[in-house]
Amino acid sequence: MTTDEEMELDSLEGVGPVTKQKLHEAGIYSIMDLAARGVGEVADSINGDTAKASELINKARTKLSDLGVLAKDFVSARELFQKRQSIERVSTGSKNLDTLLGGGVETGAVTEFYGEFGSGKSQICHTLAVMVQESKEKGGLSAGALYVDTEGTFRPERIAEIAEARGTDPGKVLDNIIVAKAYNSAHQELIVREVGRQIERTKLKLVVVDSAVAHYRAEFLGRGTLAERQQRLNRFMHMLVRDAEVYGVVVVVTNQVQSSPDFFFGDPTRATGGHVVAHTSTYRLYLRKASKSRIARMVDSPYHPEGEAVFVINSKGVDDPSEDSPRKRSGS
Ligand SMILES: Nc1ncnc2c1ncn2[C@@H]1O[C@H](COP(=O)(O)OP(=O)(O)OP(=O)(O)O)[C@@H](O)[C@H]1O
Ligand SMILES: [Mg+2]
Repeated sequence: MTTDEEMELDSLEGVGPVTKQKLHEAGIYSIMDLAARGVGEVADSINGDTAKASELINKARTKLSDLGVLAKDFVSARELFQKRQSIERVSTGSKNLDTLLGGGVETGAVTEFYGEFGSGKSQICHTLAVMVQESKEKGGLSAGALYVDTEGTFRPERIAEIAEARGTDPGKVLDNIIVAKAYNSAHQELIVREVGRQIERTKLKLVVVDSAVAHYRAEFLGRGTLAERQQRLNRFMHMLVRDAEVYGVVVVVTNQVQSSPDFFFGDPTRATGGHVVAHTSTYRLYLRKASKSRIARMVDSPYHPEGEAVFVINSKGVDDPSEDSPRKRSGS
């Protein structure tokens, strides 16, 4: 573990009182904050000096890798292997889905759930916000969640139902979920810039953005604005990737797409959000409806086995199909 002093901005060479003050004004309070920001953002806070901004970010990242928080630029495969051993996982509530994910959603990574309306994306998010609070033996990390709700679909009563059905105190579970409603894409970005502070304050371990893409899709409609949308969404996704990495939290995002993923690649106006998210998320799962159950498929993962998992949605949130169900298929 690191100490607060080690995280002070002025413990970095090149950060004097003036720079420190300017960074504070931009909401950057610690070395972790600095390491999690983009060059453009840091440059904006220090009179547009891009060279100094990248130098400061690099120093912050080097310090974090010296402290063992971040991976170094050059590491042995053994070190990487050991680092991966320290990754923790949160259960989705379904053993099938967990198996597909290699044990659950990972800390330090961004996992994207995409699929058409009603495919279970928000239900997975609600269930994870409960599961992360469970003890390790029960698939959680005994920590809270931050839920960024961009579509107005977060339902506290659903959280209470899931908690109750899983035998946990709904009141406590609700207490440990911070909900941030994002009204537009700029607001959504502002909220995510505050994520680091929230994590440091409350030690939460799960950040949900449901949906990551909806505002961008709604605000940038014409073809003329496509490049800008792509750029903004890209920057947003990178913020999340850095937060996941620097703070070691689980980040889960959702993305609504048309029912056929092939169609998705054929139409550039629809594909934009999808492509950007695809290239920045660590893991992507495609969800589809299959009568009463749902099927998840891991897409393009470098190390997960190919396969599908069947899950259902019930009072426990995400769950496995009952044993006698003929549709049961294990996630391998
Ligand atoms: N308490 C419940 N019990 C059983 N099923 C439920 C319950 N609550 C929701 N569902 C199921 O979950 C579905 C909605 O899933 P969800 O809201 O996760 O979809 P989504 O993928 O987020 O869709 P969208 O793209 O519209 O946001 C409902 O159609 C219903 O079938
Ligand atoms: Mg939803």
